[in-house]
Amino acid sequence: MTILITGGAGYIGSHTARLFQQQGRDLVVLDSLEYGNAASVQGIPLEVGDIADESLVSDICRRYGVTAVVHFAAYKFVGESMEQPDKYWHNNVAGTIAMLRALRAANVQHLVFSSSCSVYGTPAAVPVDESAAIHPESVYAETKAMVERILQWQSELTDFRAVSLRYFNASGAHPDGDIGEVWDRAQNLIPLVMKSALGKSGPLQVRGDDYPTPDGTGVRDYVHVCDLAEAHAAAIDHLRRGGAAGAFNVGTGKGFSVLEVLEAAARAAGRDIPHEFAPRRAGDVAAVWGDTSKASTELGWVASRTLDDIVRTAWQWHSTHPNGYDV
Ligand SMILES: NC(=O)c1ccc[n+]([C@@H]2O[C@H](COP(=O)([O-])OP(=O)(O)OC[C@H]3O[C@@H](n4cnc5c(N)ncnc54)[C@H](O)[C@@H]3O)[C@@H](O)[C@H]2O)c1
Repeated sequence: MTILITGGAGYIGSHTARLFQQQGRDLVVLDSLEYGNAASVQGIPLEVGDIADESLVSDICRRYGVTAVVHFAAYKFVGESMEQPDKYWHNNVAGTIAMLRALRAANVQHLVFSSSCSVYGTPAAVPVDESAAIHPESVYAETKAMVERILQWQSELTDFRAVSLRYFNASGAHPDGDIGEVWDRAQNLIPLVMKSALGKSGPLQVRGDDYPTPDGTGVRDYVHVCDLAEAHAAAIDHLRRGGAAGAFNVGTGKGFSVLEVLEAAARAAGRDIPHEFAPRRAGDVAAVWGDTSKASTELGWVASRTLDDIVRTAWQWHSTHPNGYDV
C-alpha cells in the first residue's frame, strides 16, 4: 500500500509528503533534486532520479510495493515554457508517458496528478467549474491538459484510474516553520510580496490597477499548500474506495485582489509592504477563482485555511529562511 510521490522534494510535494507521513501512510519520494531539496523530506525514503527512467520507476515499485502515485514532478514556469517548449514537452509529457509505462508494468492502478487552473486559459465566466472549456494559453498549460487527457484515456481503457487536481494559486508554508517555497525562481505573488517586505527586492510591482475589479487590481484564488496536501489525501482515498476518474478544481472558491493580499501581508509582517503600480502584464486576466463544489461533493474536501493563514505562514517561513534550505 505504499504511495510513490514524484517531485516530493519540491514545494507542494514536500507538504503532501509531510501530511502523509503524519497520517501514517507508507510512502517513498522520487525526485531528481533539480529543483527540490532533500532537507524538505526528512524521515521519508528519498530516491534520487528521473521519472522518465523506466527501470528506476519499476525498481522502486517492486522494492517498496507501490500501489498508488501522486505525481508532482514537472517543470512549472509559464514564461520559460514559451521560450523552451521542447524542455516542457520532454519533461512534463514524455517523462510522464515513460513513467506510466513502468507503472502499468508494475500494475499500479491509482494516480493523482498535479494539474493547474491554467488549463482553462481565460475562462468565459468566474467562478470557473470543471465543465468549462479547456483552452491552454501557454506550453506549460498545454502540457497539463495533455497529461490530463492521457490519464483520462488510460482510465477509460484499463483498470487504472487517475484524478487530476487543478490547483489554483498554491501559497503559504507549513505551520511547523521548517518547509516552504524557495523563492529564488518564484514568480507567484505571495513570495514576491515577502521578498519586498524583507527588503530582498525592490518594491513589489503591482501590475495593473485598472482592471474591472473592485479595487482595480487582479483577483486570484489563493489556496494554502496544506489544504492542497489534504486534497491529495482525499483524492487517494476516493480512488481507493472505487471513486471515478476525473478532474477537480482545488481552490478556495474565493478571490482576493493584489491590494487585499498586500494588506493581509502587512498585518502578518507588522510593516507596510513597499509597492508601486506598473502597467498590466500581457496575458494576465482580471479575475479568476474556482468553483470547488465538485471536490466538496465527490472528494469530501474543502479548503479550510484563510488568506491570513497563508500570509502568516509564508512570513514565518521566508523571514526565517531567506536563503531557502541553504543555511
Ligand atoms: N506552485 C503552484 O502554484 C502550482 C499551480 C498549479 C500546478 N502546479 C504543479 O504542481 C506540481 C508541483 O509544483 P511545485 O510548486 O511544488 O513545484 P517544484 O518545482 O517546487 O516541485 C517540482 C519537483 O519535481 C522535481 N522534478 C521535476 N522534473 C522531474 C523529473 N523529470 N524527475 C524527477 N523529479 C522531477 C523537481 O526537482 C521538484 O522538486 C508541478 O507539476 C506544477 O506544475 C503548481
